[in-house]
Amino acid sequence: MENVKADKMKRGEFLRSLGLSTSTLMAFYCIGTTMTACGSSDDEPEPNPGGGGSVNGVTGTTTGNAINFTVDLTHSNAKDLKTAGTGKVFGDVLVAFTTANQYVALSRICTHEGSTVGYRKEQNDIRCPTHLSEFSLTGAVEQGPATTPLQAYKTSLSSDGNTLTVTA
Ligand code: FES
Repeated sequence: MENVKADKMKRGEFLRSLGLSTSTLMAFYCIGTTMTACGSSDDEPEPNPGGGGSVNGVTGTTTGNAINFTVDLTHSNAKDLKTAGTGKVFGDVLVAFTTANQYVALSRICTHEGSTVGYRKEQNDIRCPTHLSEFSLTGAVEQGPATTPLQAYKTSLSSDGNTLTVTA
């Protein structure tokens, strides 16, 4: 730890001696270190990407071809999904609780070029932010450039309304 600190000090002093600005120095630090202090919120790990025990209220497989997971809707990570007009991504799957109080689950991977799609409350549909393809809640293409529907998954809500199961 001390060595890392000492290394940073030496590097900072060296870079400053070159007359570089503070922002340029930060860029060097981000490139040369572990980047933990420089990452954005987009770098947060996906909840439970591979299966196994419960992580952030999610249990099961959220990626690949064998989608099968449950979401604890009382967990702080997922409780927003009890409010109509919300969407959240779990691994490869976008889950939305629509304005019609229905849970839907679709592949989050746009069939055009693979960007992550999102749920739009106002239109109650799915849209890709990259080239603005739009999809219905069943995954059907409503507007291109995408031409292939999003894969839809089955959803099932427990009788107490607290556990959502998503399966292929
Ligand atoms: S990647 Fe989604 S519309 Fe192009």
